[in-house]
Amino acid sequence: MKKSKSSQQWLKNHIDDEYVKRAQAAGFRSRASFKLLEIDSKFSLLARGSCVVDLGAAPGGWCQVATQKLGNQGKVIALDILAMDPLQGVHFIQGDFTLDEPFETLLAETSNLDVDLVISDMAPNLSGMSQIDQPKSAYLVELALHFSEQVLKKNGNLVTKCFEGAGINDIRREFGQRFSKVLQFKPKASRSKSKEFYLIGLGHKHQPARNIHVC
Ligand SMILES: C[S@@+](CC[C@H](N)C(=O)[O-])C[C@H]1O[C@@H](n2cnc3c(N)ncnc32)[C@H](O)[C@@H]1O
Repeated sequence: MKKSKSSQQWLKNHIDDEYVKRAQAAGFRSRASFKLLEIDSKFSLLARGSCVVDLGAAPGGWCQVATQKLGNQGKVIALDILAMDPLQGVHFIQGDFTLDEPFETLLAETSNLDVDLVISDMAPNLSGMSQIDQPKSAYLVELALHFSEQVLKKNGNLVTKCFEGAGINDIRREFGQRFSKVLQFKPKASRSKSKEFYLIGLGHKHQPARNIHVC
C-alpha cells in the first residue's frame, strides 16, 4: 500500500528519534518507557513491592519499567484495548476501558489489592483535529480519575497523560479535590511539539470508594 507523505514523514522522524534508538538499545518495547523513568526519577512513585495499575499499557514499555522498579514482590495489573505480548510479573487484561465490562473486570481483579499507584498513558487514536481529539482524550482522563477513586488506597498516587486544551482546567480542579497535591510534568522524552503532559496527583485524600458500604 502506498504511504501518504505525512505517514512517510512520521516514519522517518520515528526512526531518527533519539528515544526510539535508546529504547531499542535498552530492550524497551516503546520510547514511552523513558517518560515513566523520568516521572519516577522526579517523583519516586514506583516503590519496591508496591501494586500498580497500568491503563493503556500496550506494547508494554511502562510495564517493563514498573516491573523492574517494583521487584518480585510487586504487582502490575495492566489493561489495553490492544493485545500485548506477555510480560513476567504483569497480569494483562485486554479490553476497552470506556466500556462497562473491562472496567468492571479491572475493578474485580483489583478488589483484594491495596493499589498504591495508577498510571495511565491512554490516548485515543489522534485525528489531528483538536475538536475531536481533545474531548476523547479528556474523557479517558476522567475515566482514569474515576477508576482511581474506586481503587486507590489513601495516600496513593495517580499519573495520567493529558493534552493541553479544552476541559483540562476542570480536570485539574477535579484532581485537586481528590489529591493533596497536583503537579504537572512534561518529560523530555515527550515530543516538544506535542501538547502532551502528565498530571500527577499525589496523596489520594480518601479510602478507595469501593470499600465504602452505605448501610
Ligand atoms: C501511548 S500508548 C501507551 C504506551 C505504553 N504506555 C507503553 O509504555 O508502551 C496509548 C495506549 O492507549 C491505548 N488506549 C487508547 N484508548 C483506550 C481505551 N479506550 N481502552 C484501553 N486502552 C486504550 C492504546 O491502545 C495504546 O496502546
